[in-house]
Amino acid sequence: MAVPARVPRHIAMIMDGNGRWARARGLPRVEGHRHGVERIHPVALDCARRGVEYLTLYAFSTENWRRPRKEVRALLRLLSSLMDEEAETCVRDNLRLRLVGTVQRLDTALQEKVHEAIEVTRENTGLTLCLAFDYGSRDEIVRAARELILRGIEPDGMTEETVAQCLFTADMPDVDLLVRCGGEIRLSNFLMWQVAYAELYFTEVLWPDFGEPELESALAEFAGRNRRYGALKNEEIR
Ligand code: FPP
Repeated sequence: MAVPARVPRHIAMIMDGNGRWARARGLPRVEGHRHGVERIHPVALDCARRGVEYLTLYAFSTENWRRPRKEVRALLRLLSSLMDEEAETCVRDNLRLRLVGTVQRLDTALQEKVHEAIEVTRENTGLTLCLAFDYGSRDEIVRAARELILRGIEPDGMTEETVAQCLFTADMPDVDLLVRCGGEIRLSNFLMWQVAYAELYFTEVLWPDFGEPELESALAEFAGRNRRYGALKNEEIR
């Protein structure tokens, strides 16, 4: 009997290459982002169909505020329309929306829209579609350190679990597979605590072109990897 392929429980994705996708077509960068946003829901559904439980997408980093104001404004508008759409499509498709990072720098109306979209999908039982917005690992770790102090955790009581409980991803499993498209081979301050034992998969495909074939390749590669978490398998011990 065929053994089912191992499926990552949690996939994290760095959706890179929107700008280059647009430039290759003589379009403004914002058009690349717009096409990038259109890939989000289909990729989430493809992951859900394959049994993935959590998909975390890097939508906007703490460093992205340094981009030209026009591009930042366009990204915020895209976040707004994404929330409108996902509030409906996630309910329809039983996906649960979640955010890591912060919305504090957004205007009140957009903050409310984000909270509302999360709220209407809270009871769904399918894949958790987690958007990393205004997210950076270093910022997350600094916030966790502050929170640990506020909770009065003494040095001896400080463990990996207490730290993990103060991260944005508290109650989410660690990342099993990190996918970065767009040809760059780096982590860019994304989920650095959570990817400690993740398998890494890099592809040249630009995010607006990312689809089922590329997801299949990443999953096949993952299924073939030997995950040892720093230990040895029995057959390797002599
Ligand atoms: C990198 O492309 C992509 C991002 C800045 C993040 C991904 C953004 C989206 C998919 C748009 C959705 C965003 C929100 C806020 C809902 P790039 O501009 O760095 O591409 P390049 O490396 O080709 O220039």
